[in-house]
Amino acid sequence: MMLTRGLRCRVEIDLRVSFCASLFTGKNRKKCPMTNQKVKILAISGSLRSGSINRALLEAAGDVVSDEFDIEIYDGVESLPFFNEDLEGENLPDSAAVLDKAIRAADAVLISTPEYNGAIPGGLKNLLDWGSRPAGSSAFGGKPTAVIGASPGQFGAARSVGMTTSIVEAIGAVTIGRKFTLGGAFERFDSNGELTDEMARKSLEDILEGLASAVHNPVSVSQ
Ligand SMILES: Cc1cc2nc3c(=O)[nH]c(=O)nc-3n(C[C@H](O)[C@H](O)[C@H](O)COP(=O)(O)O)c2cc1C
Repeated sequence: MMLTRGLRCRVEIDLRVSFCASLFTGKNRKKCPMTNQKVKILAISGSLRSGSINRALLEAAGDVVSDEFDIEIYDGVESLPFFNEDLEGENLPDSAAVLDKAIRAADAVLISTPEYNGAIPGGLKNLLDWGSRPAGSSAFGGKPTAVIGASPGQFGAARSVGMTTSIVEAIGAVTIGRKFTLGGAFERFDSNGELTDEMARKSLEDILEGLASAVHNPVSVSQ
């Protein structure tokens, strides 16, 4: 689907960071109509599990959109130490610096999170605390961001998605006002990990189009 309302795109330096795996080349990219730049999405999974359905959902994102998105999955959640203000500034861990660069280099962020005990997973909250810094200059400031979630249960991690959305808004991100939670998630993928549920594919596409629209029509945000 082509976007017709785009007035301008953010042009970012193409930083290839060590914790990001470039997933999608060729067809799975979306370009800014004005600059021909692809819309760079940093995809973050709240689950560390190798067989994660939230990770699978992020991997499916590249399949449901046309050829002008550039979606990279951030793989550094485990490398981040617990957030500690003593580690800021000169003492900033490399992993936190890499995260900061990855967020700032992306046009938009897509987070897919499970729900743990009715809440956001600790590792993801820790990542968002790092991403909220330095004070007054959050890496998420003004960043178009969407939060989605998946769970085997019927509610699709809805409580965690709600909490995570509140947190990213608190740290300055611009959320897109579209929601997508995937319940019964294990049944929505085939044995090859492909998202086969048509409604889920369409919902995921809508989220990505919402992010692209927010990138092309930025709002000014004061922190
Ligand atoms: C510690 C723990 C707590 C959980 N709490 C919830 C919960 O509150 N709500 C829910 O829907 N699922 C809960 N689950 C089940 C997860 O939704 C399920 O393990 C899911 O597959 C995790 O996402 P992932 O596949 O991306 O790792 C919990 C799982 C764990 C390990």
